[in-house]
Amino acid sequence: MNYPTNRFQQLQTPFYYYDLQLLRRTLSEVKAHLQPNFHVHYAVKACATPAVLAEICRAGLGCDCVSGGEIQACLDAGFPADRIVYAGVGKSDREINLALEAGIQCFNVESLPELDIIDELAQAKGTVARIAFRINPNVGAHTHANITTGLAENKFGIDMQDMLPAIRHAQSLRGVELVGLHFHIGSQILEMNDFQALCGRINDLQDTLEAEDIRLQSINVGGGLGVDYEQPDEHPVPNFRDYFATYARGLELRPGQEVHFELGRAIVAQCGSLITRVLYVKSNAIKRFAIVDAGMTDLIRPALYGALHRIVNLSHPLAPEEVYDVVGPICESSDVFAKDYTLPALQRGDLVALQTAGAYGQIMASSYNCRPLPPAVTSEE
Ligand code: LLP
Repeated sequence: MNYPTNRFQQLQTPFYYYDLQLLRRTLSEVKAHLQPNFHVHYAVKACATPAVLAEICRAGLGCDCVSGGEIQACLDAGFPADRIVYAGVGKSDREINLALEAGIQCFNVESLPELDIIDELAQAKGTVARIAFRINPNVGAHTHANITTGLAENKFGIDMQDMLPAIRHAQSLRGVELVGLHFHIGSQILEMNDFQALCGRINDLQDTLEAEDIRLQSINVGGGLGVDYEQPDEHPVPNFRDYFATYARGLELRPGQEVHFELGRAIVAQCGSLITRVLYVKSNAIKRFAIVDAGMTDLIRPALYGALHRIVNLSHPLAPEEVYDVVGPICESSDVFAKDYTLPALQRGDLVALQTAGAYGQIMASSYNCRPLPPAVTSEE
């Protein structure tokens, strides 16, 4: 990615920098590999920065929300309500009512008690809520344990064996209309075999439904396509071709059926970087620390998941290399971005980029230690 380092000199750090040109390139790649019956709902949880949402809205994608706050952010960004789907294991009455009033496309329902509440609230408003059941497919994914979601031990969705009774129950209710099934097996998945396994499971479930004379309009396969954190400059755009081809080949769709995708990370991760300044460099007998002004409050992924974000010295890219622990200013030992990391020598005031931070970066920031939330800067301001 190209960084306008001169412009950055004038700005207070830390901040998130979004390259909207790369985002647009990514979005056009997504669209280039869609089949006519494939629809993408961007998973807003990855990044809800208004400039980013506006760009995704302009590209014609829908959005996948998990809270009333996200639904509101999408409406504010200009998404039509009928392009919004709403998932989550714990939807509050207030949030369900907001979604009903807006007239969203679909609720992804995660339990029978939730179904009954949506039915009740919809009937009270004299409306009918379109719903899909989130089914837990018990498919493992080759990713970090904290971000795999499709196993029976996870809290998400309805068990496969409970699917038929749940559908029968939904069909008996006047406030809901069942339109589809929803799945999601996890995040940062790079092995297409994992998505292939999900296709197999969905095909089996569809056979079961067909035997019962149940036909559904849509199959929502969730998100999860991963990105290259190690070589972001070599792979700035994920492999959407293989991803969509896996589903095109793997799913045995019924006539007229639509497929919905909920991609988050793959759309926004590479276009965002956290920009920070070196405050101090200090050494002890065994380590050299580069202390930067961003911390785990700005980007929590390394502390929470042991995730690696590539680090670049923007100010002196050609300086001789040194090895550092790159750490933040927060009073926690886990406030470390990278250990034993080789970088062109850093000095106080140098600008540093933590790459591939567009997804689950700014949105997961906190104000721990009474720190201000990091602002967003875009390539086009
Ligand atoms: N659909 C559902 C139902 C989800 O739970 C998620 C992500 C997505 C779609 C979007 O997944 P994606 O395409 O972005 O992989 N904070 C973690 C990631 C948590 C993902 C949660 N669910 C991280 O920083 O790696």
